[in-house]
Amino acid sequence: MTVNPARKVLLEASGITKVFGTGAGQVMPLKGVDLKLYSGELTLLMGPSGSGKTTLLSILGCILSPTDGELTVAGQSTLGADAERLADIRRNHVGFVFQSYNLFPTMTARENVMLALDVRSKAVPDPNADALRALEAVGLSHRAHAYPAKLSGGEKQRVAIARALAGSPAVILADEPTAALDAENGRTVMALLSEVAKDTSRAVLAVTHDHRTLPYADRIILIDDGRIESDERPDKSDNGGGTTQVHISAGHLNGGNSGGNGTSESKASNGNGSAGSASAANNAAAAKPAANNAQAKPASTNGNTTTKPNNRNRATGRRRKKVKHHV
Ligand SMILES: Nc1ncnc2c1ncn2[C@@H]1O[C@H](COP(=O)(O)OP(=O)(O)OP(=O)(O)O)[C@@H](O)[C@H]1O
Ligand SMILES: [Mg+2]
Repeated sequence: MTVNPARKVLLEASGITKVFGTGAGQVMPLKGVDLKLYSGELTLLMGPSGSGKTTLLSILGCILSPTDGELTVAGQSTLGADAERLADIRRNHVGFVFQSYNLFPTMTARENVMLALDVRSKAVPDPNADALRALEAVGLSHRAHAYPAKLSGGEKQRVAIARALAGSPAVILADEPTAALDAENGRTVMALLSEVAKDTSRAVLAVTHDHRTLPYADRIILIDDGRIESDERPDKSDNGGGTTQVHISAGHLNGGNSGGNGTSESKASNGNGSAGSASAANNAAAAKPAANNAQAKPASTNGNTTTKPNNRNRATGRRRKKVKHHV
């Protein structure tokens, strides 16, 4: 994978493993993940249900500690960090966006965004103005005083993105940000995340099962059974129209519980590890029923996986230029 030398590494994970439980009930959703996230890029992380996406996202966002491995976020190593230090790194360098928005219903859009500023250690001279700027960046300054109940799903997600952006964290992590949205709102949110990712001081990683997100990706990583299976940058000019052609296996797309039903949804924090940080710890633990895990990667029923040559990427259908299992 060729990396533009102007891009900075904003997050680096190496040898990440995660074990849950003990004895017969032990599971190992991550089996040694190496990954770098670069500034100025929107990376998509795809994989079957139970393949470890949310667990990985939670570790990258310092919500969960890895069982083994090293993580550096915005130059801050988490090696040996206690819970307080991890929370500190998370609050200052990571913004989260979740499928279910996680907005406080009793706060306006502006107040929800200001809450994120509250938890960052960096002093913000005028939080109100900052929150309004973040809302403006997502095209919602006119809805600043609206309560979540009065916002559409797409608007709520844009407020959640504004909240993630508040205080300018280096890394934005999104877990299935379009899964609860209709096609148009899903496109709007992806276009926004792709815009957000153009900032050269920021990296964006979004977990998704949604093939509609593919055209926005600068990079697509596939994970399967706790290991990175492929990692590539689609050539957006390849098809002339800027629309990434999608050939994706049923396992990567559906995973058994995508499509907006929310069953795989993280019971996550309120964005930036403030009031929700206790429940954030449940994030990756937002356990899917065991049955979901057994159904990873069903035999393809859409014809794509059975007919495509082996040297094609499962997500994009393009010929692999170069595939690295660990980046
Ligand atoms: N706290 C936990 N305790 C025990 N097992 C867990 C916990 N959290 C996750 N798991 C298990 O780890 C595996 C990976 O889960 P994870 O939530 O990361 O999958 P995922 O790829 O995000 O799936 P989905 O697409 O359904 O959201 C699954 O087998 C899951 O049941
Ligand atoms: Mg998940």
